Amino acid sequence: MTKQPTCRIAVLPGDGIGVEVIAEAEKVLRAVGERFGRQFLLERALVGGAAMDATGEPLPESTLALCRSSDAVLFGAVGNPKYDDPRAKVRPEQALLGLRKSLGLFANLRPVWVHPALADISPLRPELVRGVDLVVVRELTGGIYFGQPRVEGSERAVDTMAYTRAEVERIAHVAFRLARGRRRKVTSVDKANVLACSRLWRSVVEEVARDYPDVQLEHLLVDAATMHLIKRPRDFDVLLTGNMFGDILSDETSVLTGSMGMLPSASLGTSPSASLGGGRFGLYEPIHGSAPDIAGKGIANPLAAILSVAMLLRHSLAMEAEARAVEAAVAAVLDAGHRTPDIAAPGQPTVTTQQMGALVVEALGVGRA
Ligand code: IPM
Ligand code: MG
Repeated sequence: MTKQPTCRIAVLPGDGIGVEVIAEAEKVLRAVGERFGRQFLLERALVGGAAMDATGEPLPESTLALCRSSDAVLFGAVGNPKYDDPRAKVRPEQALLGLRKSLGLFANLRPVWVHPALADISPLRPELVRGVDLVVVRELTGGIYFGQPRVEGSERAVDTMAYTRAEVERIAHVAFRLARGRRRKVTSVDKANVLACSRLWRSVVEEVARDYPDVQLEHLLVDAATMHLIKRPRDFDVLLTGNMFGDILSDETSVLTGSMGMLPSASLGTSPSASLGGGRFGLYEPIHGSAPDIAGKGIANPLAAILSVAMLLRHSLAMEAEARAVEAAVAAVLDAGHRTPDIAAPGQPTVTTQQMGALVVEALGVGRA
């Protein structure tokens, strides 16, 4: 047997339930390594509040350096009530923005689908959400998040929003390419009736669309999009958005499924990963936060983190079979009726975070050919 290259994965659990769910995701990665004969080197580093406690900084240089020398980053969550003051100069969330910018992670993919067994826990009627399967493709390193904020005393504050043609082009290509492997429909979201950035966005997206005549393109204004996502969520395939609209809409789409504890995400850069062909560098994280209210209780749902591992295998390591095996294992565990409290129906028995991780490892059939 030829020796497999070692995949270096930086593991940044962060704060709160991030630590608990990432521990289970690591177990699943190790199990994948065993079953498929892959070498994964998992190296941990501090980030967020945990890093501030230890070093005073949310994103220490050593953490960034580890990420830079890895093929992919597995990230938990950041945020600690201790550092909650939004006026503070240093905050845990800066770690995430810093990682995105410094690692050039411009494309954020947030898939949202409803597992048939979970349609009943959605706040919407089951017949509206059954079969929902969409991906938010959010531009992640531009727009108003990375403008020039200015505070003028206590009387005025200014944020600026800018987009360049090149920034819109590259994220639009990501959306169209993704749509080709799905239901071939892109819905681009903007506020072109008001914002100059959105008018540029719309015309560049239309130009890019000419390269993909097999993909249908529609435009929606962001206010209307919020409404249509609730009224007819099944009609959406790929939702292409700028940074801030994507932030807002992805929280909305995440509740269609009933629990944020199920949803993974990927943030991808441009460069191919260091050691393996086909993949590109990326950061993978559950879309939920650090949830300090339930941290340490062993009740957090690790499936979003585990499904983030599947995305990591697919996008950064080009290991499609391994990614599908993880997704199939999660589906099997859900089909068998295992539930953490966030996805349990009233009165249904529940499992702990660790038990859920162990069930997925078991379903992966470690050791089997
Ligand atoms: C997200 C989060 C972040 C964002 C925060 C924590 C900075 O809400 O990933 O959606 O606004 O991008
Ligand atoms: Mg958000």
